[in-house]
Amino acid sequence: MNSLFTVIIYLLLNVVNSSITTTYYKRLIDRRIREAMTYKLPKNNEQFRKGIESNDIQNYGEYDFVIVGAGSAGSVLATRLSEIANFNTLLLEAGDEEDDFNQIPAMMIYNQLSRKNWGYYSTPQKYSCLGMNNQQCVVPRGKLVGGSSSINSMMYIRGSCKDYDKWSDLGNHGWSCDDVLPYFKKSENSQIHGDNGYHGIGGFWNVEYSLPPSDLFENIIAANSGINQSIIDYNGINPFGSNQLQFSIKHGKRQSLAKAFLENARARSNLKLVTNVLVTKAIIGPQSNVTRGVEFVTQNTKFRVLAKKEVIVSAGAINTPQILMLSGIGPKKHLEEMGIPVIADLPVGKNLIEHPFLPLVLHTNYTIQDTTMEKKIDLYLRGLGPLTRPAGMIGVALINTRNGVEEVPTIEILFGEPNPDLSVFAKMFNLKETTAAFLTEIIHPKSDITISLLLLNPKSRGRVFLKSNSPTDFPNIDLNMLSKREDANSLIEAMGYVSKIVQTDGFKKINATLLDIKMCNNVNDIKRKLECLIRQMTTTCYHPCGTAAMGPDRKKFVVDDKLKVHGIRNLRVVDASIFPLPVSGHTNAATVMVAEKAADVIKKMYEK
Ligand SMILES: Cc1cc2nc3c(=O)[nH]c(=O)nc-3n(C[C@H](O)[C@H](O)[C@H](O)COP(=O)(O)OP(=O)(O)OC[C@H]3O[C@@H](n4cnc5c(N)ncnc54)[C@H](O)[C@@H]3O)c2cc1C
Ligand SMILES: *[C@@H]1O[C@H](CO)[C@@H](O)[C@H](O)[C@H]1NC(C)=O
Ligand SMILES: *[C@@H]1O[C@H](CO)[C@@H](O)[C@H](O)[C@H]1NC(C)=O
Ligand SMILES: *[C@@H]1O[C@H](CO)[C@@H](O)[C@H](O)[C@H]1NC(C)=O
Ligand SMILES: *[C@@H]1O[C@H](CO)[C@@H](O)[C@H](O)[C@H]1NC(C)=O
Repeated sequence: MNSLFTVIIYLLLNVVNSSITTTYYKRLIDRRIREAMTYKLPKNNEQFRKGIESNDIQNYGEYDFVIVGAGSAGSVLATRLSEIANFNTLLLEAGDEEDDFNQIPAMMIYNQLSRKNWGYYSTPQKYSCLGMNNQQCVVPRGKLVGGSSSINSMMYIRGSCKDYDKWSDLGNHGWSCDDVLPYFKKSENSQIHGDNGYHGIGGFWNVEYSLPPSDLFENIIAANSGINQSIIDYNGINPFGSNQLQFSIKHGKRQSLAKAFLENARARSNLKLVTNVLVTKAIIGPQSNVTRGVEFVTQNTKFRVLAKKEVIVSAGAINTPQILMLSGIGPKKHLEEMGIPVIADLPVGKNLIEHPFLPLVLHTNYTIQDTTMEKKIDLYLRGLGPLTRPAGMIGVALINTRNGVEEVPTIEILFGEPNPDLSVFAKMFNLKETTAAFLTEIIHPKSDITISLLLLNPKSRGRVFLKSNSPTDFPNIDLNMLSKREDANSLIEAMGYVSKIVQTDGFKKINATLLDIKMCNNVNDIKRKLECLIRQMTTTCYHPCGTAAMGPDRKKFVVDDKLKVHGIRNLRVVDASIFPLPVSGHTNAATVMVAEKAADVIKKMYEK
């Protein structure tokens, strides 16, 4: 009798509890979407201005290591360094903590329209981004614990083995495919039953599929086999082929590197994380080229903290070059123009690599099943369903359009299911009103699927440079995508694959047709028309890297193969900035690999 009563109470409480949770999530989602739609991105670091302009400077003590930025790389590095009991580390992060909303993969877009994004735009562009307001593309970057891994699309695509051999061929010892594979495996906890020998099980970072697979998955696989793409583990032996997306999610929730790594380390007494802090420069010299610490501002106050061993800059491919340049490390002429005393003349900010991203839409006669948000939330709380799919992404194909010339995939195609949020894309991409209005008119959110092209090995390079010598200003970001004709041609070629895919049996079954964007209609020649479309609609794939590239020659590269800044002591860069060449995948897994490897290099150097 008594125990029956207990069971009934328990069941009742469970029901009440789960409906409270569902209501909580429903309200959270509604509120955040509403806020996102009216959010205005900041124009500069106004938030920190008072501290930056303060004449007073307070001492913040001394640590062995000071790490700038708790993003993908910073979270991994801080966790690994704090494994050594007598290393004392300070981790400084400009943003705030993660929350329940940014954990929901399907909601990833809305984080870009919030305080979790720094809010950067590119400079007005000449060769791409032409369909965007003022020809400026958005350049979202995570400004919170976990960095860009807390707002990204969670696709786990490492890049090919051969990419890293090319890094090594530049003279970077220890960075060949064979050297880096153990570091990819070290971080990973793979659930996908991929190729033997290529995956880690038991690492901190979970990789799984979004389950159950979308209804459209069969069509996408059939379409890919229609263009001769075999089903593969693209993080395994063979990089060419197609499959569902491997995601860095766990039970359907985002696994930022803060969740995966830092959460294990935050309670350690030898690691201190401070949020809402803007690091403004590294302190170097003045009598020598030795890095002594950093300056930072928080709560309207300026501080100086010293590093006994090293300062490690992990602020990401946009902010790292900004901090280096503000510290006097960068192209001499540019620093002089900005009125910054030059400490080391290095090509900081040059070699900005970005994967051009061309989103396309297909009309189909498939209709996504209507379910209520409550039902989706209930599924999400069990780790399942559409809310576990970042922006509705379901499948990927990695194709070599240059067989015989390239040994790595040159084009990636991403497949997304119908997305009720299609209208937010206009705001997210900064589309011109005319383009956006046109799209809203012809898009059918419940039956249009997205198919996006990425150029994986672009030859064009952009540049990050300063607006002024003030840390209050955002840096300038000139993406310069498609400035090399070759890159535009590769995308035109890739459009050919889209036409072929539309004609496969897999897509014929859903009567797929490429949506004809009524743009560039005054251009008659078909190739010219395609090029015009491509230059209008191509935007960033959120993969900036390369701005403090690794290599032996200090005329061309910023850091050596131990990631130490050339000619400067006790200063390292550990993040996506150090990629010397593009990866033919996405950038997060590669960044984590870089941080895992750097942690070992640093441990080896200082451990007694
Ligand atoms: C919208 C979006 C989608 C993406 N999708 C994918 C994907 O699906 N798959 C994939 O592999 N990659 C994806 N990426 C890219 C990937 O997330 C990044 O390449 C990766 O997170 C970069 O790591 P990082 O450590 O170099 O920089 P970040 O993770 O950006 O970390 C830098 C950190 O430093 C902090 N910081 C910067 N400046 C300062 C300062 N002055 N003082 C204090 N702190 C500072 C920042 O706030 C941030 O937390 C995406 C990125 C975005 C933005
Ligand atoms: C696929 O391969 C077959 C046989 O080699 C070939 O005839 C066909 O043209 C290929 N299709 C595509 C889209 O490349
Ligand atoms: C610092 O390094 C630069 C080269 O990177 C060198 O020209 C300069 O003399 C060094 N300064 C000091 C004080 O050692
Ligand atoms: C297929 O699509 C075309 C073009 O959008 C449309 O005219 C046709 O009615 C569709 N057919 C079916 C069977 O849905
Ligand atoms: C969609 O179109 C295809 C090809 O025209 C057709 O065979 C199929 O029956 C259509 N499906 C629906 C649900 O209308």
